[in-house]
Amino acid sequence: MKEQLKLIEQNAIAALNEAQTPAALEELRVRLLGKKGELTAVLKQMGGLSPEERPIMGQLANTVRANIEQVMENRKAAIHAAVLEQKLASEAIDVTIPGEAVSLGHQHPMNMVLQEIKDIFVGMGYTVVDGPEVEFASYNFTRLNIEEGHPSRDRSDTFYFDENDEVLLRTQTSSMQIRFMEEHQPPLCMLAPGRVFRKDEADATHSPMFHQIEGLVVAENITMGDLKGALITIMNKIYGHDAQVRFRPHHFPFTEPSCEMDMQCHKCHGTGEVDGQVCSTCHGEGWIELLGAGMVHPEVLRNCGIDPDKYSGFAFGIGLERTAMGRLKITDLRLIFDNDVRFLNQF
Ligand code: PHE
Repeated sequence: MKEQLKLIEQNAIAALNEAQTPAALEELRVRLLGKKGELTAVLKQMGGLSPEERPIMGQLANTVRANIEQVMENRKAAIHAAVLEQKLASEAIDVTIPGEAVSLGHQHPMNMVLQEIKDIFVGMGYTVVDGPEVEFASYNFTRLNIEEGHPSRDRSDTFYFDENDEVLLRTQTSSMQIRFMEEHQPPLCMLAPGRVFRKDEADATHSPMFHQIEGLVVAENITMGDLKGALITIMNKIYGHDAQVRFRPHHFPFTEPSCEMDMQCHKCHGTGEVDGQVCSTCHGEGWIELLGAGMVHPEVLRNCGIDPDKYSGFAFGIGLERTAMGRLKITDLRLIFDNDVRFLNQF
């Protein structure tokens, strides 16, 4: 029996030292020390020993068991360390590999120009306001002196929401003139940038959705000279002092007199031609219309409860995309809406 125990111990230690995985180790534990294991089998024979031999064999069996357990513990730790070692090696991070650059975005070019324009007007004392894009026809047309039957009210020009043509996507930020005068008494200086919508086909200078910046000044003794002064000041600040602009007489139902202001085309420099071809940016005009403006019509003031005999004012509506085109030398308005990063990255 003594030999038997010694043999078990020897074989066990050899087998344990060969085990490579936690699973192999567990299998050995069951085989050697389990209830149906080799050691237990030997201990079951103890009943057949003499009373003198029994404690000696008992002690030896315990020593063998303790030795096996000790070797098993050591082996377990060694396997654990090896597994960890392998895992660390396979998951190693090479901190010397160059990182991936995260590209930072920036403001959209149109917002950059809008911000510039707002800053200039705020510096001149204007209050910047926001208003609804879904508007009543009364604000967009009627109270601006645009009577029923006027071509711009036509369904082919305007997006209506209802059968009665009372609610629409605003076609101009001029609706904000009425909204502002409803709530403020002169003297007042308002700037209202925002989106407007028209049934226009898109081309180099048109889009069914675009941005306008409405301006309105009402006080005593405001003249057309104030309007021209304000607009020229703005253009000089945006485009520099050599900016080429011109005023043309025009008609708007809500201003009298009215005008439009053009900027010389930055692509053909006013010639209307590029390499013998009609300039695609200004359609050969040599000029690009930037804004409509004029002296606020007395009827519009009256519609807002302001006395036209005491007060006068001017208003303008700047096309933001076209202004941005000139400011950033963009030759096609559609690029502003495409949002191709190759385009956006240039600014
Ligand atoms: N609302 C006009 C347009 O969209 C522009 C304008 C604004 C004209 C203010 C005069 C005064 O064309």
